Amino acid sequence: MTATVAQALSHAESALPSTLDALRKLAQIPGISADPAPNAELAKSAANVAAWMTRIGLERVEVLELPGVHPYVYGEWLHAPGAPTVLLYAHHDVQPPGRPTHWKSPAFEPAERDGRLYGRGVVDDKAGAAIHFAAVEAYLKNGGLPLNVKIVIDGEEEIGSEHLEEFLAAYRERLDADVIVLTDTANLAAGLPSITYALRGIVVADVELRGLDHPLHSGMWGGPIPDPAMAMCKLLASLVDDHGRLAIPGIYEQVQPLRDVDRARLAQLPYEEAAFRKDAGLLDGVAMSGEPGFNTYELSWHRPSLTISALEAAPLKGASNQIVDSARARIGIRTVPNMVGSEVADSLCAHLKAHTPWGMQLTTKVRGSGGWWTTTPEGPAFSACERALKSGFGVEPVYIGCGGSIPFVEPFARVLGGVPALLVGLEDPICNAHSENESLLISDFQKAIASAIHLYDELSRLPR
Ligand code: BES
Ligand code: MN
Ligand code: MN
Repeated sequence: MTATVAQALSHAESALPSTLDALRKLAQIPGISADPAPNAELAKSAANVAAWMTRIGLERVEVLELPGVHPYVYGEWLHAPGAPTVLLYAHHDVQPPGRPTHWKSPAFEPAERDGRLYGRGVVDDKAGAAIHFAAVEAYLKNGGLPLNVKIVIDGEEEIGSEHLEEFLAAYRERLDADVIVLTDTANLAAGLPSITYALRGIVVADVELRGLDHPLHSGMWGGPIPDPAMAMCKLLASLVDDHGRLAIPGIYEQVQPLRDVDRARLAQLPYEEAAFRKDAGLLDGVAMSGEPGFNTYELSWHRPSLTISALEAAPLKGASNQIVDSARARIGIRTVPNMVGSEVADSLCAHLKAHTPWGMQLTTKVRGSGGWWTTTPEGPAFSACERALKSGFGVEPVYIGCGGSIPFVEPFARVLGGVPALLVGLEDPICNAHSENESLLISDFQKAIASAIHLYDELSRLPR
């Protein structure tokens, strides 16, 4: 017997306190995937996820172990013969917490304030997993689901799902599905449900410049001896022009101009520069950057961008008047259709080599990349998703792109034969994902669970 939508909705509503409690417990575990594997905290996090999945009635629940890989977790419920199969994805690994002094409550002690739950990983992406679990539970505790469900909870998304190929090779046979639902993306605004149809890719490289075999007194040696820290500044500055447009030769050659349909979608979206600046926390007087003449959404979703995410020579604390021996930086380039990650990495390294000042010794290390992804959000699965979000949020959903990356999506959708991928999530503009004081808007969490309940019902009628 299958639970009705009404039964499931009512169960989810009364179960919300216990769902939030389970989310808080999961968010206490610092499963930071940037730390090396094997990692006891990620094992704990995977075990917690597996226990949650077992508790709600999923079957064949398993922590998927591969040597040297942070664990993925799998579970399924396949008792709807003849009905479609949906594969639900989220990730349980999290980013490092950042500066402890900048958290208003400790990163791994989830705390509620003003309708938001604060803590590392709450919105990115433990709430994403919790949405699937709460919606599945609501059906299973009332008789059953109207369709077949498989769940994959990734343990290495925040490091680019590095072992995705191995994962797919090892577990391909159990992953077949008619549609994928991923809960790891943003909403354009709080309370405004959004379906993501494009993700940027990313190429990350570390660069080091060495000029000396030891630091020197800057008074004794400054002048004739070149400064590796200054060399790094000049080198990094050569990567962009005054607008922040990438200055790497050839980098825009592969960039596809925005399709008219996508441009029309952008034009329909609400945008207010003052609100955008405020949500970003941009300080008074600081100008926005990017290629002139491009809409803000086009810049963040459909054009490449470059960020220096780490930069080091010597810390101010304990600094002396010295010429440092070396300097290091991490460079991230967000890529868009039809840029090829390996070629972007080659162009970046060639540019760095050509612009290294004063013959400094240069080392570059490409740290891997994830591909961009884009889809045409049309057809019965997308219509089903629109109706489900409308029912859950009481607001018509919008279609958006995403400046971030989810490396799982492109290879996965491809291996499954190009099945539709529905990307939804809870990362609103003030959620601070990857920063301090990350938070989840609890009212949207509740609406997302209701939407998921409607979505499984809608997808159960998907033509196959
Ligand atoms: N949930 C994000 C992706 C995202 C970013 C969604 C912005 C919505 C808005 C995901 O967890 C993420 O952070 N991905 C990484 C991937 C990287 C490690 C390859 C990213 O974009 O940096
Ligand atoms: Mn995420
Ligand atoms: Mn993330």
